[in-house]
Amino acid sequence: MSVHRPSTPASLQGSDEDRPGKLLDRELAARLLRFVRPHAHLLLAALLLLPAVGTLDLLQPMLIKLAIDEGMGRRDLAQLDRYVLLLLLCMLGAHVAGFLQSYALQLCGQRATHDLRNAAFRHLLGLGSAYFDRQPVGRLLTRVTSDADALNEMFAAGLVSLVGDVLTLLGLVVILLCLDWKLALVCLASAPVLALSAELFRRMLRATFRQSRRQLAAMSSFLHEHVQGMPVVQAYQQEERARQRFGELNEAYRRSTFRAAAYDACLFAWVEALSTYVVAALLWFAAGRMAAGALTFGVLVAFYKYVDRFFVPLRDLSTKYAVMQSALAAAERMVGLLETQERLPELAHPLPAAPLRERISFIDVSFSYGQRPALVHVSFDVHKGQRVAVVGHTGSGKTTLARLLLRQYDPVAGRIEIDGVDIRHVSLRDHRSRFAFVTQDVQLLRGTIADNLSLGDPALPRSRIVAAARAMQVEEAILRKGGYDAPVLERGANFSLGERQLLSFARALCRDPEILVLDEATASVDSQTEAQLQAALEVLLAGRTAIIIAHRLSTIRRCDEILVLHKGRLVERGRHEVLLARGGLYAKLCQLHFGER
Ligand SMILES: Nc1ncnc2c1ncn2[C@@H]1O[C@H](COP(=O)(O)OP(=O)(O)O)[C@@H](O)[C@H]1O
Ligand SMILES: [Mg+2]
Repeated sequence: MSVHRPSTPASLQGSDEDRPGKLLDRELAARLLRFVRPHAHLLLAALLLLPAVGTLDLLQPMLIKLAIDEGMGRRDLAQLDRYVLLLLLCMLGAHVAGFLQSYALQLCGQRATHDLRNAAFRHLLGLGSAYFDRQPVGRLLTRVTSDADALNEMFAAGLVSLVGDVLTLLGLVVILLCLDWKLALVCLASAPVLALSAELFRRMLRATFRQSRRQLAAMSSFLHEHVQGMPVVQAYQQEERARQRFGELNEAYRRSTFRAAAYDACLFAWVEALSTYVVAALLWFAAGRMAAGALTFGVLVAFYKYVDRFFVPLRDLSTKYAVMQSALAAAERMVGLLETQERLPELAHPLPAAPLRERISFIDVSFSYGQRPALVHVSFDVHKGQRVAVVGHTGSGKTTLARLLLRQYDPVAGRIEIDGVDIRHVSLRDHRSRFAFVTQDVQLLRGTIADNLSLGDPALPRSRIVAAARAMQVEEAILRKGGYDAPVLERGANFSLGERQLLSFARALCRDPEILVLDEATASVDSQTEAQLQAALEVLLAGRTAIIIAHRLSTIRRCDEILVLHKGRLVERGRHEVLLARGGLYAKLCQLHFGER
């Protein structure tokens, strides 16, 4: 049977794999089987080929025996030729069948993995923001990429080769007994010892594999964090500390991997030694019987060959065990992801979303991410066509308010209505399609500039993209980068902060939303860029209902109403002049940020 080497260490990643007893291995396999079912014919073909491969394999020593006893022993060259030819055919057949088997198995595994990966990503797309708050990015990446491969390994290396091994061993025992039962018993006497030691090693390996997996997870999450945060690490000269910490993690991982390798070597040596003893016993026992004429030389050679085959599955045990263990751990994580039900609830028959007629209302809305409340009993109305600013200290709940309106989270208490309809009663898709959300940290994706503006919507004509870029006065910058089809690097690294902001405005304008939600970037830009942003914003806002989390006085001043948040509470509201005159929190904020009296 073909043996699969342990897979890439990547499939061992993730730090929450050790949830002992959460799911039985059998249940896990059953859940993943769902993805194999559409390709079951391939798996079946591989399984059906097993007896063929096994028989052709086991036939070979028998043919050697016949060649020796019938051909060479009787000096019958015609017979010898016949058996040698049969032996060659047998070998050829075994190789062809083996190839077909791996081909079918790989095809089945790869297809199922492909489906599983699609399913995982589709599932991720439907999960609410709360899930992503908790899950580290690196962990989710591994789920969809390497963890999905677990499925392939589980069936290729695990299930099928296990069935193959069992069949081969059974066939071997039967053949040995038929050939010469006394000699067979000598060989089989080693079986209990083998079984016992296999079980012992399995237990030792299990513990070390778990440990090394945990250590690998720790190392990769450290790596992920530090590669992503490299600018900070370097700017704060944390290289030495990071190097040391990584060294420790790496060392711990090396130790446990080495322990696994040592056990593996012990097992290998032990099985080798045992097989040598069995062969020695065989020779000693056979010699006596051959002298008595009760045994032919051919039978002895065949026995020797068979005994060798007998030990192969055991020698590979630890390799297979490693593969199965990591595959099971990955499978458990995968199933965990697929069964996460952190979607925002939707009605079975949601109401249709009509265009905004009158107003958006927050009615006694409270929300918290965990223990501490982020919004407390917030109520306000935004009328159609109004421009409302939200201001407050950092952490006062401004972004949270916007995210609730977009339904990235649902309020813990209270409700948000649009024209009197609770937003939870409209389908999520319809609801979100009314908005353009310009976030505080602009998210540019890899791809062309045009793709970033249209977000890959093929229905959006190029003329609209160009018009939006022109209106936002960002066309010049785009042309400088080489036009609309020029690439945007990861996280928009090849654009300045101001340009990124303008691009995100243009993206919102492309969508031509009814309602604009804008989380203004706090980063200070030079006064020329500031003026450019302001002008662009005016164009973007024209004729739209807007909720702006504002940090620039120039933006705030032009709003119809200002909501002042403090520790999640709405503490003041009104126009700029009125609030300023009142001398409350808003006046203080203005003084602090703009030096205004
Ligand atoms: N994803 C999150 N998980 C847990 N707490 C959060 C999360 N986002 C924000 N918070 C907390 O909620 C409060 C309000 O945050 P936020 O709305 O982002 O404030 P603002 O935008 O006004 O600076 C803060 O105390 C913040 O620490
Ligand atoms: Mg914020």
